Amino acid sequence: MQALFRVAVLPGDGVGSEVTAEAVKVLKAVEEISGPRFRFQTGLIGGCALDATAVPLPAETISICINAQAILLGAVGGPQWDGKRPELRPEQGLLQLRQRMGLYINLRPAKVLDSLVGISALKPPAVRGTDLLIVRELMGGIYFGNPRGIFAKNGERMGVNTEVYREHEVERVAHRAFQLARARRRKVTSVDKANVLETSRLWRDVVNHIARAYPDVQLEHLYVDSCAMQLIGEPTRFDVILTNNMFGDILSDEAAMLAGSIGLLPSASLGDGPALYEPVHGSAPSIAGRNRANPIGAIASAAMMLRHSFRMEGAALAIEAAIEKVLKRGARTADIPGKKRPTTTSHMGDLIALETKKLLKSSKFRNA
Ligand code: IPM
Ligand code: MG
Repeated sequence: MQALFRVAVLPGDGVGSEVTAEAVKVLKAVEEISGPRFRFQTGLIGGCALDATAVPLPAETISICINAQAILLGAVGGPQWDGKRPELRPEQGLLQLRQRMGLYINLRPAKVLDSLVGISALKPPAVRGTDLLIVRELMGGIYFGNPRGIFAKNGERMGVNTEVYREHEVERVAHRAFQLARARRRKVTSVDKANVLETSRLWRDVVNHIARAYPDVQLEHLYVDSCAMQLIGEPTRFDVILTNNMFGDILSDEAAMLAGSIGLLPSASLGDGPALYEPVHGSAPSIAGRNRANPIGAIASAAMMLRHSFRMEGAALAIEAAIEKVLKRGARTADIPGKKRPTTTSHMGDLIALETKKLLKSSKFRNA
């Protein structure tokens, strides 16, 4: 019997619907050649959900996600919702979904493709060969700690956020980082601020403890400021970067600049149930609706879905190889410099879908 995979599609705001449409197109290309059937169900999240239902994460969307085996998300946010009360911002939809689905690990790979080495913010010799994976803790830390709020004290306002990490929260993400390193170059760089913060001292202690179970993986510790510097100075020294929620948020945007455009980068958020896949870029309201967004981040996120949720490594590799091929032949969306007439969002999706089908027909990817 043919496998049936249920995928929740949450396009969200801005360019979200354009890029998720291309990712679905590529999944359908895989379906055509490789057999599994996908059943897509669409839900609202973010600003569009606020407009339609007055909340950023409607109950119906939660139930669609719980009933799915994987979630594909576009992006949330936009200037029209900026004035909202904090709990009614589109971003809350995403933060609530991470909590609700128990997504405690965020994977953000940043790879510099040879054909795009010239568009990086760094010079080619420094950046060539960069291939790193940020493993970010996603459900804890200062994003969610209590107390939090803006309080009045002694006649002035005081903003409060709290960073909290419990041992088990560090343990589970550290295990995953070491396991992932085993399938890569076997090096984990754990990033913290242990010279100043207690949460970081605990983090470092727990990571050292977990590392004992992985003697074949090399572990180093870096302070976050030094890591930020070395990401620019010598990006090729990194393999897996393991870090907390806040530092991972910042470092992953920095790492995106190594690849040259944030539009290229995918992410996966994993827990114990259905996982969520989304491009790293935001809703890009200034280009929304104009067929100008880069769908590669979303398409590469679909590849991560096939790998992590559906154990279809061959198909994941085929999509990744198709992206490389299409870029090598010169297709460029508007975010990538060097083309007078950039490739549109939908055309880029067509090219990658077609190439994926071709590759899947070759035995190399079918049997991977
Ligand atoms: C990200 C984003 C989110 C975050 C926002 C939209 C809440 O910046 O996924 O990196 O801070 O985690
Ligand atoms: Mg971010």
